[in-house]
Amino acid sequence: MITVNVKRYDPVKDEKYLESYEINESDKMKVLDALQTINEEYDANIAYRYSCRAGQCGSCAIKINGEAKLACKAEINDNDLLEPLNDDVIKDLIVDRNKLNDKTRDLNMYLSYEDERIGKRKPDIILPTLYEETDALRSCIGCYSCLAMCPVLKKTSEFAGPYFMRGLSSITFDPRGDESRSGQAVDSGLYCCTSCGKCSEVCPKEINIYGKAIEIIRARAVQEKEGPLEAHKKIHDNVKNTGKSVGVDKDTGYEEGFAVEYNKTHQFNEKPKIAFFTGCMINNKLPWIAEYLVKILNKLGYEVDIPQQQVCCGSPLLRTGQTDIIQDLVDCNYETFKEYDIILTVCAGCGATLKNNYPEYGAKLNVMDISEFLEDKLNPDDMKEVNLKVTYHDPCHLARSQNITFQPRNILNKIKGLTFVEMDKPAQCCGAGGGVKSGKSEIAEALADEKVEMIDKLDVDHVVTICPFCEYNIQDSLTKNNSEASVINLMELLNKAYD
Ligand code: SF4
Ligand code: SF4
Ligand code: FES
Repeated sequence: MITVNVKRYDPVKDEKYLESYEINESDKMKVLDALQTINEEYDANIAYRYSCRAGQCGSCAIKINGEAKLACKAEINDNDLLEPLNDDVIKDLIVDRNKLNDKTRDLNMYLSYEDERIGKRKPDIILPTLYEETDALRSCIGCYSCLAMCPVLKKTSEFAGPYFMRGLSSITFDPRGDESRSGQAVDSGLYCCTSCGKCSEVCPKEINIYGKAIEIIRARAVQEKEGPLEAHKKIHDNVKNTGKSVGVDKDTGYEEGFAVEYNKTHQFNEKPKIAFFTGCMINNKLPWIAEYLVKILNKLGYEVDIPQQQVCCGSPLLRTGQTDIIQDLVDCNYETFKEYDIILTVCAGCGATLKNNYPEYGAKLNVMDISEFLEDKLNPDDMKEVNLKVTYHDPCHLARSQNITFQPRNILNKIKGLTFVEMDKPAQCCGAGGGVKSGKSEIAEALADEKVEMIDKLDVDHVVTICPFCEYNIQDSLTKNNSEASVINLMELLNKAYD
C-alpha cells in the first residue's frame, strides 16, 4: 500500500483541502493511473486533465512534490504530494489555461509572411540542416511546466516566461518565416531570465530553453540593436579592452590580479599537469579564494599552474547575447590551456562555459570544478575541527549546467566538527546569473531575499557556495536583511580545516 496526498479545490465552496488516499501500488504505476485508481476505489471524483496518456499532448502536467511533471509519464511513489500546476485552479488539479492561451494569441505566436508577399514570393527551399536547428524548439507540447517552475515569473510580471521566449525564438529562427521577434522578446522581458536552467530541467521534451532559445534571441537582439542593456554593454567593453569582465580591486593587495602576482613568485622546474582557470571575479575581486585553493592543492601534494595569459571565459557575454568577440576569447584560452591534463575552476559560470559552450567554438578542454576534483582526495583525519553550522546553496550553473550536486555535499560531510543542514530549496536560483544582477537588479534582489528567508530559518553561521556571483548576490541580501549568517566560499571553509 502507498499513500497519495492530493491538494484539492472545491469551487462551489471555494475551499482548498488536502486529502490522503491509500492504494495498492502496481509496479511502475504512473501518477495518472494512481489518480484513476483513487477515483475508482474511493469514488473521490478528483478532477484532472489528460488526453494522449503518452507525453504528447501536454495536458496532464501537475506538480508532484513541488516539481512540474507530466502525470502520464511520472511514476507514483509513497507519500507523493500532487498539486495543481499553478494558482489559477478551476477544480482540484485542473488549472485555467485561458490566460496563457490569450497571451499566446496576443504575442501572435505563429509563423507568418506579410500578406502581400504570399503571391509574390516563391516558397523557400528549406534545407534539412536549417530546419533541424529549430526542430527542438518546435517540439514543445504546451504543458506549461516551464512557466510553473520559472523562479523569475514569481517575482515580476515584466517577464512573459520560458514558454513564450521559446515560441518567439522558434518563430525568429524558423527558415519558413521572414520576421524577427527579437524586439517583441525584449518587450516581453527577455533580459529578466537568469539562465538558471530550471525550465529546461522540468521540460518533458528536454528543450534547452535558455541556451537554445533565450540566448540566441538575445544575440539576435544585439545584432538588430534591440539590446543589450546598458550595464551589459559595459561588461562587453571591459572584456574587449582588458580581457576581464571586471577591474582589479587593488585593496585586496593584488595590484595586477591574482594570476600575474602568482607568476612573479612561482616558477616550476617541471610544468604542472594541472592548471587553474581563475575567472575574472576570483582573479580581480576575490583573490584570497585562489590563494586558499592553491594552498589546499599544495597540502594534498599537487602543484598548480596559473597561466597569466588567460582571459575572461566569455560567460557574461554569451549569457547576454554579445557574441562578437567570443571566438577570440575561446581561441586565446584554448591556446593557453590545451597542454594541461586538467583545468580547474572555482566559479560555476566559468566551468559551465568552458565545458558546455567551448566545444561549440571548436575548443575541447578537460575542465573540472574544484569540488569534483577534491571530492575523493580529502581525508578527514588530516583536517582540524571546524565547529560551525552551515547550509549549502547550489549555484544554477553548477547544479543544472554541470550536474554537480553531491560532490560539494560530500566534501562538507567530510569536514570534522562541521554541522551541515539543507535549506528548503537549495537549488533554487539566487537571481545573480544571466546578466540579471547587473541589468535587472530588482529581480536579483527579490530572488536573493527568498534565499535569505530559507537560510535564516536554519540558524546557521554560513551559507556555502562555489560561485562568486551567487556569493555577492546572497551576501548583499543577507546584509540588507541583517541576517546573522554570512556567505562563505567552499575554499575558505576548507582552508579553516587545513589551516
Ligand atoms: S532559465 Fe530560469 S529564469 Fe530563465 S526562463 Fe528558464 S526558469 Fe526562467
Ligand atoms: S517548453 Fe517544455 S516545459 Fe515549456 S511548455 Fe513546452 S514542452 Fe512544456
Ligand atoms: S496525457 Fe498527454 S501528455 Fe500526459
